[in-house]
This record gives sequence, structure tokens and C-alpha cells, in this order.
Amino acid sequence: MTVYGIGLGPGEADLVTVKGKRLLESAAVVYSPGRLSRTVALNHVPEERIGDLDFPMTRDPDELRRAWKEAAAEVAARADSEDVAFVTLGDPNVYSTFGHLRRTLDAFHPEVDLEVVPGVSAMTAFTTALGVEIESGTGLALREAANGAAPTGPDRMVLFKVTDAPATHEKLTEAGYDVRFGRRLFMEQGETVVTDDPDELAERDYYTLAYAEREGVERDVATAEFDGVESGGSA
Ligand SMILES: C[S@@+](CC[C@H](N)C(=O)[O-])C[C@H]1O[C@@H](n2cnc3c(N)ncnc32)[C@H](O)[C@@H]1O
Repeated sequence: MTVYGIGLGPGEADLVTVKGKRLLESAAVVYSPGRLSRTVALNHVPEERIGDLDFPMTRDPDELRRAWKEAAAEVAARADSEDVAFVTLGDPNVYSTFGHLRRTLDAFHPEVDLEVVPGVSAMTAFTTALGVEIESGTGLALREAANGAAPTGPDRMVLFKVTDAPATHEKLTEAGYDVRFGRRLFMEQGETVVTDDPDELAERDYYTLAYAEREGVERDVATAEFDGVESGGSA
């Protein structure tokens, strides 16, 4: 049988894919690595089909390896006779706990069939929420910016894990970037905030990202730039 790694999307129940929903409805058990993903999964799966796996809040590599081995052993045992699912917010292959499960299954239970169902990642959903267009021909880099970090270099970056928005903002603006933040985008749990003002986000919330664009970056739009015509109006 198969272990499905299913991306739930950013949080709103309607933003899970049709395929993801179908597999969630048919899986014998749906494992979720955290409270938020569990809440989202409960929109599609009754509580009695949600499986519990124990993930310790630690950075100790030995303890983490032990926990993942135990989790993989339980998932593999269930998958011996039934289809099972493991959910993650966003996409399973973008900065996700699913990677740990996949590596552990590959190492210790190579007989398990694994299939990944992509989800709407915050990496793309931020564009709509923040009103950003990544125009054809331009690049976008994905970085992490936890604990006030402020990576620089690319002209455009989407930054995940922004846990200290004021510190990240200060460093990025000094380095010549315009910065916009999004918190709990397309999520039904908690308040969605989209802002340029880091002080609105002074309170730490893991579900915060930022879009940073180098000031004065060149725009070279190939289509629909019409001299003398204002956007949404006539000449
Ligand atoms: C461990 S990563 C998981 C990413 C997820 N797999 C995805 O594809 O979106 C968690 C980080 O993603 C970002 N994130 C995920 N969902 C978000 C949302 N709905 N709103 C804002 N940021 C989000 C935050 O920066 C958060 O710290």
C-alpha cells in the first residue's frame, strides 16, 4: 500500500487540492506533525482517523533521529496493509517535516511506496496575498530569516520563518531592500496581517514571511505597458 505525503496548502480548507482531499478522505489514517496541520486536516478527516506521532521539541540530533525512526516504523507498519497519509502545511517538499519522514522511510523501510501530492506553498501564495507579481524573466530566491536574520544578495527574495520582523526589517532596509510582511496568509486560524510596518508584527509568530525587493530594481515587462495610458483608465 502507499504512504501519501499530502500538502494541505497554507491553511484555508478550500486551498487543499482536489487530489489531496480525495486521498485524505480515503486514507485509513492521516498523520499530522503539528497542531495547526491537524486543525486543517480536520476539515477533511474525522478525528478518529487522525494518527498521533510523537515529535519532541528538541534540537538534539540523536533524540530527533530516534523520534523519526519510531514515527517511520509506525507509518510503515500501518502502510503494510492500508493506504496512509502524512500531511504538511503548504507543500511537502518545501522546508517541511515530510522530508525527515521520507529520508527515514528510505533508509529503514525501503519497501514502502511513497507518493507526494503537492500543495499550495506559502512560497507562491504570498504573491497573491501581498499583491506581488513575479514578472516573466525575473528571478526569485527562497531564504530563511529566523531570529532576526537578514539574508541579502538576490534582487527579490521570499523569506520564511521570520520570527523577529523588526530586526530583519532593520537590516534589510539598511542593505537597500523594500520589505513587506505577511502573517498567517490564507489561514483560518489566527489573524491574517499584511503590512510594511514591522512593529505591527513585533510579537513573534512562526507563520510569518517577508518579501524583500532591492530598491529601484529594474522592471522589464514585455507586454501591456502602454505609453500614455494609466492603469485601469484611458489615455
Ligand atoms: C517549516 S516552513 C513550511 C513551509 C510549507 N511547507 C510551505 O510550503 O508553505 C514554515 C514557514 O513557512 C511560512 N508559512 C507557511 N505557511 C504560511 C502562511 N499561511 N502564512 C505566512 N507564512 C507561512 C512561514 O515563514 C513559516 O515560518
